[in-house]
Amino acid sequence: MVTGPDSLYVTLLILLHSLTSESVKFQVLGPTEPIVAVAGDDIILPCYLKPNISFEDMRVDWLNLDSDFKDERVYRYDNGRIVYDNQIRSYRGRTSLFTEELGRGNTSLKLTRVQGSDEGRYKCFVKSKDDYDDVTIQVLVTAIGSKLVVSLEGRKDGEMGLLCESEGWHPEPDLVWLDSKGVSLSAGPPKVQRDYEGFYTVKQHVIVQETDTNLFTCRVSQSRINEEVETEVHIPSE
Ligand SMILES: *[C@@H]1O[C@H](CO)[C@@H](O)[C@H](O)[C@H]1NC(C)=O
Ligand SMILES: *[C@@H]1O[C@H](CO)[C@@H](O)[C@H](O)[C@H]1NC(C)=O
Repeated sequence: MVTGPDSLYVTLLILLHSLTSESVKFQVLGPTEPIVAVAGDDIILPCYLKPNISFEDMRVDWLNLDSDFKDERVYRYDNGRIVYDNQIRSYRGRTSLFTEELGRGNTSLKLTRVQGSDEGRYKCFVKSKDDYDDVTIQVLVTAIGSKLVVSLEGRKDGEMGLLCESEGWHPEPDLVWLDSKGVSLSAGPPKVQRDYEGFYTVKQHVIVQETDTNLFTCRVSQSRINEEVETEVHIPSE
């Protein structure tokens, strides 16, 4: 190890250099708790620089790490302009920064008309010529679906085919058919479809024996939002 005047000189030079260069270091911060949004709402994804310096000449990238489109972005601001290349199609026209907040390091993203496919982990990545940092924020989206629609698909030899369906859920719900005593009529897993906005439609066919009451219940539930919707049908005997 070298000690003495030489190393002191080197230390001083390094110190002097770091004092004179204009490099500005910053941290990127955001909430640790998830942002919970109801489909259709406008939300803010908080993200900001510490210290609260201007990011006018920096690059800000917002990414959805859980998107189906891994190589595309939610939003990019780069050195005074918005970059629309490689923006995920579903975010077009729904994202913006707060321009009045630009001078004070507030890189929060405004997202309008939240839809199912917006759920995921978002990365807010900020890069200047001297430094870069990022933070990841979780966004959860909930949507309660439409009314249940039940239809009689046919009947023959004391048996009936019933169909229950409901659309517009997020996340994916459960669907069960029950008899008049509340006993589940096993019918295999429901058919689930996801539309282009990321909302789920569930459908379940069931074949039942006709009973004295001919009362059946279709129930759709979503445990995350603790929501349950059911409808009871009475099929008059022939
Ligand atoms: C930056 O932060 C400081 C301390 O938190 C605050 O006093 C100041 O008003 C902020 N500046 C702007 C432009 O918001
Ligand atoms: C950033 O700007 C938004 C919109 O004006 C505001 O709601 C939010 O509180 C700001 N965040 C910080 C850290 O100043």
